[in-house]
Amino acid sequence: MDLKAHIRKVPDFPKPGILFYDISTLLMHPAAWRHTVEALGAAIRPHEPDLLVGIESRGFLTAAPLALHLGLGFIMVRKKGKLPGATTSYTYDLEYGTDTLEIQADAVKPGQRVVVLDDLLATGGTMRATVDLLRKQDAKVSGVGCVIELSFLGGRKLLDVPVASLVSYD
Ligand code: PRP
Ligand code: MG
Repeated sequence: MDLKAHIRKVPDFPKPGILFYDISTLLMHPAAWRHTVEALGAAIRPHEPDLLVGIESRGFLTAAPLALHLGLGFIMVRKKGKLPGATTSYTYDLEYGTDTLEIQADAVKPGQRVVVLDDLLATGGTMRATVDLLRKQDAKVSGVGCVIELSFLGGRKLLDVPVASLVSYD
C-alpha cells in the first residue's frame, strides 16, 4: 500500500517555512491505518518487546493500537505534570530552552524490554530523550519505531538502537 498517498503535507505549519507531515489523513482511512499498524508490528516484533511505549501525543495513537495488535502492555511517556503518582522525569535541551518528559515510576520493571513508538522522527531529540528516560528506569530499549522518518534531518544518528520506519522522506 502507498502510505505516502495517505499522509498530508501542510506547508507553513507550525511556523512559516516548515512543511508538516500530517498523519490525520492516514488515521481517517481505516484500511491504510490497519496496514500501518500491521507493518509496524512486523518491523518491531524481532526486537521482542515486553511492553510498548508511546510518546505524547501522536505517539499514543501509534503505540496503543500496536500494543493491542501484538498483545502487549502500553506505557505513556508524557509531558511534565500530566501523570499521577510517583514519576521519573528527564529534562533535555531544545534549540531554545529545555523540555521535560515523565513516566510513572512503576511502569517498567528493571530489565524489561521495551520498544518506543512515535508518529514521526524528525531531529530525533524527542525519541532520544525518551530512550534516555527509559534507561534511567533500567529498562532495556530494544528498538524504536515510527510511521514517518524525515531522513534529511538525520534523527536516527542520535539513536543507538535499531530504528524502524515505514515511510521516509529524503
Ligand atoms: C512531533 C512528533 C514527534 C516529534 C518529532 O511532536 O509527533 O513526537 O515532534 O520531533 P523531533 O524528532 O525533532 O524531536 P510534537 O512535539 O509536535 O507534539 P505532539 O505529538 O503532541 O503533536
Ligand atoms: Mg509528538
